[in-house]
Amino acid sequence: MKVLGIHDGHSASACLVDDGKVVAAIQEERLVYEKNRGGYPERAIGRVLATAGVELADVDRVAFSTREFRNLNMRNAADVMATYGRMFTDPSGQRALESEDNEQQQQRLRSARLTEAGFPAERIQFVDHHTCHATTAYFARGTFDRNILVITNDGHGDGLCATVSIGRGGELTRLASVPKDDSIAAIYSYITYLLGFTPLEHEYKLMGMAPYAEDSGHAKQVCDYFESLFELHPEQPLLWRRTAGTTPVSALAPEIEKAMRFRRFDAMMAGLQMFTENLVTRWVARVVEATGVTDLALAGGIFMNVKLNHRIADLPGVRSAFFCPSAGDESNSFGAAWSLGGVPEQGRPLPHLYLGTGYTRQECEKAVADHSFRKRVRVIEMSDPDEQCALLLADRQIVARFAGRMEFGARALGNRSILANASDPDACSLINRMIKRRDFWMPFAPTILAEHADEYLVPHPDCPAEYMALAFDVRLSAHKHLTAATHPHDHTCRPQILTAEANPAYHRLISLFREHTGIGGVLNTSFNLHGYPIVETPEQALDVFDSSGLNYLAIEHLLVQEVSEDD
Ligand SMILES: [Fe+2]
Repeated sequence: MKVLGIHDGHSASACLVDDGKVVAAIQEERLVYEKNRGGYPERAIGRVLATAGVELADVDRVAFSTREFRNLNMRNAADVMATYGRMFTDPSGQRALESEDNEQQQQRLRSARLTEAGFPAERIQFVDHHTCHATTAYFARGTFDRNILVITNDGHGDGLCATVSIGRGGELTRLASVPKDDSIAAIYSYITYLLGFTPLEHEYKLMGMAPYAEDSGHAKQVCDYFESLFELHPEQPLLWRRTAGTTPVSALAPEIEKAMRFRRFDAMMAGLQMFTENLVTRWVARVVEATGVTDLALAGGIFMNVKLNHRIADLPGVRSAFFCPSAGDESNSFGAAWSLGGVPEQGRPLPHLYLGTGYTRQECEKAVADHSFRKRVRVIEMSDPDEQCALLLADRQIVARFAGRMEFGARALGNRSILANASDPDACSLINRMIKRRDFWMPFAPTILAEHADEYLVPHPDCPAEYMALAFDVRLSAHKHLTAATHPHDHTCRPQILTAEANPAYHRLISLFREHTGIGGVLNTSFNLHGYPIVETPEQALDVFDSSGLNYLAIEHLLVQEVSEDD
């Protein structure tokens, strides 16, 4: 059975699930070249169908993520900023805006383009938001032979901000849910906005700054304030709630602004992170204890927080934990489709995330031949691209890599990545000068060969880390070999641990790099200009190469190299 999954909210996406297996998935942002683009993902839908080689008429069912849509006006960063602005100045006005349409009318509008194209309305379904998150985590984990504790937690969706379910044999049973007015993740987004960043996008920057101030008394005061707003439910072990007298979170922004006035920016970031880690970790620990289920799958925007995930993974009661890749709403198209698509007959339904478009050698050659370079370049046909990239990295060159099918989600996983020798302490500043312009406190991350991960990382008990969703403490060897890809202050890192099965060519490249250097990982950051999505097409890759300080672009079997006048 073929099911088309659609997420048409913030950071919209589409995926196609065929007999339980995800065969294609992409976010709209990559195709319209606007970060986190929301709304109906028309191009993403067209692309996943084309990639899978099917027509809309071949699709058996369509599954939309989220039944009742709030905040339709979240198409881009400007919309998000305006919406959050209203939350701080007029929260009651914002609430009125949210409830202006009824559910059925909204659903008719949301599916109109499909029905106008002739797709039968009775084969379109709208799946509850947290059911989508839970299903994404559970199916992506792919353990169906025993009980799995499935936990969701996000800003909010369909009236809830968190759920607890048990999964077994491909079925989920919900045990508990937390109403949206108790949302912890919403608080995180408020502070993101208050500090001048873009909510639903830049939360990770607060997490990145947090270690610098986590020992300060100022941060403790901020943490104490947030902790005074919530408590674990005294009678119901699967829930937390607001403390008596606390305003519902949807109307809390003005009070938070007042409480944070004249606070240090770094203390706000550190105190908020401390509060989030403490409360969510205590909640998860209590849920594990109450249910007696120790194998976890977790999804929802709050589990994009790799430091929180680090703490959960190390909880004494947790035997194994799977953190959903790209755990925000963008991956809800997977859960929506899986909710209708059934359990795959065998194997992991999601063995990797290379689910986007791939371009042939001929398409790449044509793009290079047609490109009018502003830089002076030399184009070389590589007989062994993996080996030649490995040699360049061993020589401490920065290499942009465009190869194979594009990765889904917020993290570049090697096929649309900028790679560097992470033992080079200058690599971070070099990449930032060339292209990334990241905030000075933000760390880069590594890809590490699975066979050598234990040489660098202090392992978590049975927690796969293939998607940069989980932070690790590092061993001394990482300080030397991966220094440019660890957090400069607390020396943690959020690696992509790479197996040969997931991406044979990228794995071979790093293996060859190791043969030359003895180092079992490389720095891997997304291939994009600051503020833009990751490049999707060969033309975009060439444009970014041309308008940045990059010197090397490996585009499939071609190496585009900037040369000086003397060469
Ligand atoms: Fe969500």
